[in-house]
Amino acid sequence: MEKVTVLSLQKHKQEKIPITALTCYDASTAQLIDESGIDIALVGDSLANTRLGYANTLPVTVVEMLHHVKASSRGTKRALLVADMPFMSYEAAPWEAATIAGRFIKEGGANAVKLEGGKRVGASIKAILNANIPVMGHLGLTPQSVNKFGGFRVQGKSSADAKTILEDALALQNMGVFALVLEGIPAALGKTITKRLRIPTIGIGAGAGCDGQILVLDDLLGISQQPPKFVKKYADLRILMKGAVSRYRSDVLTRRFPTPDHSYH
Ligand code: KIV
Repeated sequence: MEKVTVLSLQKHKQEKIPITALTCYDASTAQLIDESGIDIALVGDSLANTRLGYANTLPVTVVEMLHHVKASSRGTKRALLVADMPFMSYEAAPWEAATIAGRFIKEGGANAVKLEGGKRVGASIKAILNANIPVMGHLGLTPQSVNKFGGFRVQGKSSADAKTILEDALALQNMGVFALVLEGIPAALGKTITKRLRIPTIGIGAGAGCDGQILVLDDLLGISQQPPKFVKKYADLRILMKGAVSRYRSDVLTRRFPTPDHSYH
């Protein structure tokens, strides 16, 4: 199978073939995604809530992200591996953003980085692109701005907000980002932005009009406890895993495990 690249993703848009993307957090989830033929494996900063037990994505650090990017790259062959830049790793200074993005590529083995925001983080995006590192944008309900938004609220509902998001999307395209994640915006806005852009859009709670879709792996697998409305659950792994662990416990307590079959003779 041919490696997915920023160029092959562009071809998806031209040929109207939907792009599939999912988050991954370690070698085994990356391998699962890769072997299933998913195009983009994103080591999302949702790592903070899904795996590290933080209440939101704000506390996760560059060192924590890097650890999981390295593991994920060991499980990825075909998919494009994108590393999420955590909160405050790119807002303060463009040189710092480029240095950290460089670590995700050089040490982590990622193929590209993603960061949240439009024109306000333009200087950092340009610095990363100047280092020849592909950048994926992320607009709409950007979780790192939860305090500014006053909660996880759908963005772009008023025409003024929708206009700002569209302008940011066009600005990101002009800067040279290779794709754009649109999160938590009305479906009609997702469709409009997708039509206006030459680069592919990847929606998450942004309707069916985007060029591709992404979900948090733990939401789709039914591991997360309270997934957002836009999630479609394809499995109930939390229930399955808890059931398996409880049956194991009960077998050990009642000496039904191990049997001679599970023993060396
Ligand atoms: O961190 C994340 O998981 C994301 C998504 C786009 C799902 O940014």
